[in-house]
Amino acid sequence: MERLQKVIANFGYTSRRKAEELILAGKVKVNGEVVKELGTKVDSSDTIEVEGHVLENKEKVYFLLNKPRGVITSVTDDKDRKTVVDLINTDKRIYPVGRLDYDTTGALLLTNDGELANLLMHPKNEIDKVYVAKVKGLIGKKELTTLANGVIIDGIKTSKGKARILKYDKKSDTSIVELTIHEGKNHQVKNMFKAIGYDVLKLKRERIAFLDVKGLNSGEYTILNPKEVKKLYNEVKK
Ligand code: URA
Repeated sequence: MERLQKVIANFGYTSRRKAEELILAGKVKVNGEVVKELGTKVDSSDTIEVEGHVLENKEKVYFLLNKPRGVITSVTDDKDRKTVVDLINTDKRIYPVGRLDYDTTGALLLTNDGELANLLMHPKNEIDKVYVAKVKGLIGKKELTTLANGVIIDGIKTSKGKARILKYDKKSDTSIVELTIHEGKNHQVKNMFKAIGYDVLKLKRERIAFLDVKGLNSGEYTILNPKEVKKLYNEVKK
């Protein structure tokens, strides 16, 4: 038995917090009856209806996309721009796990498995997100240590990560830095560099957990196999 709001989120219908709002608003039925109690426990034999939609068990699918620049990380866009979902050939209702900026490239997971998506996004599960940033200027040891120990963004310190310099190009005065973090706040990497006085010129996410985009051209994707999905679940349950 699981809590109703968790089950709704796991179906991928919406976040757990929004599910709670829907329950309180009387928009959720269990076996035909409106349920407004947040703690209500349900299991797989129960029929759950949210805003008139019956939640059905569906086949889970998982894609790893090498996101190109100039594509929005969203399911739909009100300005009619191309979205990451448009790049995937599937009839399933998938959505991106977390987000990459319009101009950021690299590893992005898309799935209809709400449970795994939520687990991967939760910072407490400490999933590695490895970024490679090209920044203006020379990044020294001191800056790398500051980035790794956490910087203050909007009054909150980012959690511990890892940072190392891969290259410095004297001619263009740019550094290539690898930054490994576990959080995924909006524009986090760009804001982390900004906090120490550097501008990010280019950003790519190289890896999420053990999944990297080596061998995938920009815009290409692979379908995760059951072994990889199991390994991802093992990573979040460590
Ligand atoms: N951090 C950013 O600043 N942008 C991204 O797209 C991802 C992480």
